[in-house]
Amino acid sequence: MGRLTADMEKKLARVHGQILASEGLLLAELAAQVPNDRVIVEIGAYKGKSSCYLAAGARAGNGALVYSIDLWEKSPWPEYARPEIPKNWRDNIGHLGLVGQAVPIAADSTEAAELIDHKVGLLFVDGNHNYDGVCKDIETWMPRVDPNGVMVFHDAKAELWGVARAIREKIMPTGRYAYTLEMGLCILRRAR
Ligand SMILES: C[S@@+](CC[C@H](N)C(=O)[O-])C[C@H]1O[C@@H](n2cnc3c(N)ncnc32)[C@H](O)[C@@H]1O
Repeated sequence: MGRLTADMEKKLARVHGQILASEGLLLAELAAQVPNDRVIVEIGAYKGKSSCYLAAGARAGNGALVYSIDLWEKSPWPEYARPEIPKNWRDNIGHLGLVGQAVPIAADSTEAAELIDHKVGLLFVDGNHNYDGVCKDIETWMPRVDPNGVMVFHDAKAELWGVARAIREKIMPTGRYAYTLEMGLCILRRAR
């Protein structure tokens, strides 16, 4: 399986965004393992930092396509609704030579599910962090994830938002997943 070049790692670390470079590298590693008949879905792309790591990892690995979903200008949070942010996303993807590896979808994460037909090999959730929002994302997207697929949630460690509670209440009772916590990421893989 391909690895990111040192030059690519440097460029990725410089992209402005809300995940740590170490978290991004882990996302890239997971993205590299997704078979190319599965897709990678990202909820909450912002300026594209996580999108770039996912797309770079996928390209170095099996070439799975990344769908990056965000409300962008329609975001109810003013700091995320600034009109330059979707352009920042495109510029970052372009600067890293990743055009075509990640496809932006400007929509609500639940509505976007109707636009994507493929089985999901990796789901990365970093959108609405409120309990109800995370529950909706889980209800919409968990059934779309391949049985051997992986789900990753950002900001699931602290009880500050609703992410940890939604995972506890909506995913763990299914008995289908085991989780590990690595940096700010909760990684859920099929329970053996
Ligand atoms: C924490 S930021 C994502 C940070 C990004 N992953 C990064 O690497 O920098 C959260 C993003 O989720 C988006 N968002 C929130 N609720 C959403 C929803 N229901 N559907 C789509 N995007 C949503 C916001 O517009 C915002 O850009």
